[in-house]
Formats: sequence, structure tokens, C-alpha cells
Amino acid sequence: MQFDVREPELASDAIAVSLPQFRVAGASDSTKRSQGHVATQAQLPAAPAHIRAGGRMMDSHGRTILDLRISITDRCNFRCVYCMEPDVQFQPRENVLTPGEIIRMARVAQSLGVRKIRLTGGEPTLHPQLTEIISGIRAATDVEIAMISNGSLLTREKLSAWKRAGLDRMTISIDSVRADRFARVTRSTVTPEDVMAGIEMCVAEGLTPLKLNAVLVRGQNDDEAVELARLARRFGVEMRFIEYMPLDSARAWDRSLMVTAQETREAIEDVFALTPTNMDDAHSTARTFRFTDGAPGLIGFIAPVSNPFCGACSRLRLTADGNVRPCLFSTTEWSVMKLLRGGASDAELANFLIDVTWTKLAGHNIASQQFVQPARPMSAVGG
Ligand code: 5AD
Ligand code: SF4
Repeated sequence: MQFDVREPELASDAIAVSLPQFRVAGASDSTKRSQGHVATQAQLPAAPAHIRAGGRMMDSHGRTILDLRISITDRCNFRCVYCMEPDVQFQPRENVLTPGEIIRMARVAQSLGVRKIRLTGGEPTLHPQLTEIISGIRAATDVEIAMISNGSLLTREKLSAWKRAGLDRMTISIDSVRADRFARVTRSTVTPEDVMAGIEMCVAEGLTPLKLNAVLVRGQNDDEAVELARLARRFGVEMRFIEYMPLDSARAWDRSLMVTAQETREAIEDVFALTPTNMDDAHSTARTFRFTDGAPGLIGFIAPVSNPFCGACSRLRLTADGNVRPCLFSTTEWSVMKLLRGGASDAELANFLIDVTWTKLAGHNIASQQFVQPARPMSAVGG
């Protein structure tokens, strides 16, 4: 599909939201607590004319966007230690994308080649119009629709309604199978049994292949790799271990708190031998393994810190408050609200997405001493 390239100045209406840059190491107490971001008027440069004319979201490093993650709410009923602080400030509702705006962005993204949309949060199941959002995306597109949830608020009725509305797959976070740990990590009153009941319901509803996510944090749940791996065998699902990334609102991340994929794999392999599936998609964030003994389930490792996969990145993110983020670790994000609420055409929205994609940096550099932690936590930017 071709888009109008005659009006490159339109994209300059976009507001670049420049976020304050904080260093992880040595951040002062006040910066550690800072939540705000400073909005400045700036221009989003237009991508080269041939890129716009191509009608695809391509970046200047040769990567194409196929996967859009949309945070539909920044609110959450958990306060996971690696994500948000108890006193987190949420966006006022009027700043949050409406279902109609979300659906429109999904439609425009698909017209530019997106094949998969993942609804994230915060906790997306808290959104009162979630079913409407799913059915709207389904009616407007034929992308795969996936959702990530903390699994605490699931019922058969809700899952069945979402499935009927067009939801294809679910990912559920579960960081511990021990009640005391679970409470400490999530700072909620939900129990691991509640989440496991949710996992069973997802499988029963056919919201599969189901994936489970865990973040191991040293001193919190780092001794649970094997117990969590058992969930893969028990439910016949993929249990994925994600390295703790510097995206926590407390800014408490420190390399020493991160448990590497290698370390986790070794702990699991002490008990269960693993064989690589060698079936991972080129754009996949996870390296997956089968149990060598033939048990059901898969183990996946997502190693953004120890083994960055930026080179194959096919992702773009839309925040709950309508900012497009070229990368999880971007310190600049671009607001699409003014376009959405100012009568912009689909072609203008498409050019905006193409232009933002063109700004994607090659990689995140977490490993470097120069790494700058983005101001917004995972809950604001969407997993
Ligand atoms: N590091 C790694 N993963 C994180 N998540 C949230 N915050 C972090 C972090 N700092 C994960 C959640 C969820 C997914 C959306 O992102 O556990 O599974
Ligand atoms: Fe909520 Fe997910 Fe953040 Fe935990 S990681 S506080 S469940 S958004």
C-alpha cells in the first residue's frame, strides 16, 4: 500500500516527548523517585521519501516492524518489585487512548505490515472495555491478537468472551509458586494458586500456545527456576525466564540483582536436561528448549541484558497515553495524540508511524557503563 508523500510537514505537528535521562548508577535519591517526564516541542524528522512511499515501517538499520505492543492501561492491581512502586502515579483517564483510538492505530499499523498485536498494560484485564477493544481490532484487522496478563483477575466467562471477540493467545506472568514469595514480589494479596487457576482456564479456553513469564530477581525468587520450570511440564505450556531489565520505577536495578539466562538454564539443567528446539522465529525474543525426557512443555530464555536481540527487532510500542516508543529503552517517545485528536487522516498516521520507526536506534547498550535508564517503567511502556 502506498501513502501520500506530498505533505511531509504534517508529521512535524507531532510532539516529541523528551524524557529526562537518568543514569542507573549513582542516581540521586530525587532522580530515583522521579516519575515525571518533560514534554518539549520538537520535530519528528520525516523518513526519506522512498521509505514513506514503501508503505512499510522500516528503520535505518534494515529492520521492519511486524509486531505492535499496545499498552491499553498503565494501571495495575500488582506492584511487582521489578516494575512499579506502591506510590506510582497513573495517567488521568483523559490522557489515555480510547478504544476507538487503539483500534484505529491497530488498523493503520496492519496496513503498514504489522502481523501481530499484543495488548499489554499495566494490567490489560483491568480495562473496562477490553472486550470491545479486542472485537474492534478483530473487525478492523486480521492480525494475531495476543494479550499479557498477571493472571489474577481471570474467569472462564471473561476468557471465553475475549476469545469469542477475537483474542488468539495469552501470556501470563508468574514469578513464584510460593505464597509468601509471590506476595513479596507482586506486593498483592493474590496467591500463586489464583494465577495457576487462571493458567488452567486459559488452556481450557484454547488461548494457546500459552506462555508464562517469570522475572528472577536475586534475593527474591532466584532459587525458583526449577519449580517454575515444572509448571511448563504440568500445564504443557512454555515457561519463559526474562532477565530483569533496568525498567523498574524504583531504579533499584543493578546488574548484581539480575539472574542471567545462562545461570537459570544451568539451574534447570541440574534437574531436567534441555534440548534446543531450533524452531525459534528470527524475530523471536526467546530461545526455546524442550525437555529431553519428552515431557510436555517448553522452556524459553529471554536475555535482553546478557545477549541483546536488538538486531532482529521487529517491534514498536504504543503507550497507554498515546506515545509511540521506538524501543523499550527509548529516552524519546513520540506523541500521536495530537494527530489522533486533531482530525489527522489514516495516511498521516501511517506517515507518523513510518517516521518514528526511522528513528529506531540500533540497540540499547544495557551492557555499557554509559547506559541511560528510560524515565518510564515497564508498566507505562508496555511489555
Ligand atoms: N525486567 C524484566 N521484565 C519485566 N517485566 C516488567 N518489568 C520488568 C523488568 N524490569 C515483565 C513482566 C511481564 C512483562 C510484560 O514484562 O513480568 O511478564
Ligand atoms: Fe503489574 Fe505487570 Fe508491572 Fe507486575 S509487572 S506491577 S503485574 S504491570
